[in-house]
Amino acid sequence: MTEIQTIGVVGAGAMGRGIAQIAAQAGLRVRLYDTSADAVAAARESLRQTWDKLAQKGKLTAADAQAALERVEPATALTDMSACQLVVEAIVERLDVKRDLFAALEGVVSDDCILASNTSSLSITAIAAACKHPRRVAGYHFFNPVALMKVVEVIDGLRSAPEVGDALAELARRMGHTPVRAKDMPGFIVNHAGRGMNTEGLRVAQEAVASFAQVDAVMREQAGFRMGPFELLDLTALDVSHPVMESIYRQFFDEARFRPSPITTVRLAGGLIGRKAGEGFYVYADGQKQVPA
Ligand code: NAI
Repeated sequence: MTEIQTIGVVGAGAMGRGIAQIAAQAGLRVRLYDTSADAVAAARESLRQTWDKLAQKGKLTAADAQAALERVEPATALTDMSACQLVVEAIVERLDVKRDLFAALEGVVSDDCILASNTSSLSITAIAAACKHPRRVAGYHFFNPVALMKVVEVIDGLRSAPEVGDALAELARRMGHTPVRAKDMPGFIVNHAGRGMNTEGLRVAQEAVASFAQVDAVMREQAGFRMGPFELLDLTALDVSHPVMESIYRQFFDEARFRPSPITTVRLAGGLIGRKAGEGFYVYADGQKQVPA
């Protein structure tokens, strides 16, 4: 396979912009597309600010910051992805929408273009089944915030060609990330092994054993995690993580240990979804976390 130089990123939200950031910093050209033109403009502006800050801190020269920004080209249509050797999808976590996108992308890109999904919980094999060439499809699961979370899961679907995963792993290393190869099972590795902390944390709170803040403090200070489960849920936001919890539970045929909690259902319905809403398990004022009374 030829070395990947130009990638497409579809979905310019939290994850899409992070993937665009590390790719552009590694010297790749990035075409960034979203059904919302505003999302693309906002992503580019946030990348500009990120690189400006890195330049101010001396972590990047001003010229490198400018060059990185210039490598991120806004795309106005999916057809702008035609020259990409890889397209990474980071859109809404819905199987039907992702399958439609992958089928549409196949009509745009060349036969040897790799199509990768950043899905947290959906089956790569099921996404690939919408394609004429499912061998080109694999999972490429980054974590939030992408630039700081240096691991990426590379997921082989049942029909993925091994060399596709190899190329994604090699690219991950070029972008400064550590690839970990996983099989296509619900939650892959992180959202499977890591699920226990969220679901048990929610059960502890539901049983009124301890408050959200107490559970977080114990997991941080005793167990050594960087964040407790409720801090992490606030960072990810419940509009993203609650559907992931439901999806993994259903995919394991309602296995009790994966069961989501009514605590998150109610909070999602009430809009208390996390940092980006200003309120989740904690309240956020001027970017600072506050513990509700
Ligand atoms: P987000 O809500 O921040 O951004 C999604 C973007 O996709 C939006 O700008 C939306 O306009 C766009 N979009 C929706 N449908 C589209 C379509 N058909 N074509 C083009 N653009 C479309 O979501 P976020 O958090 O970036 O998540 C994206 C994906 O990454 C999801 O699959 C999610 O499960 C996964 N993920 C999220 C993580 C997180 O912590 N936020 C971590 C790892 C994976």
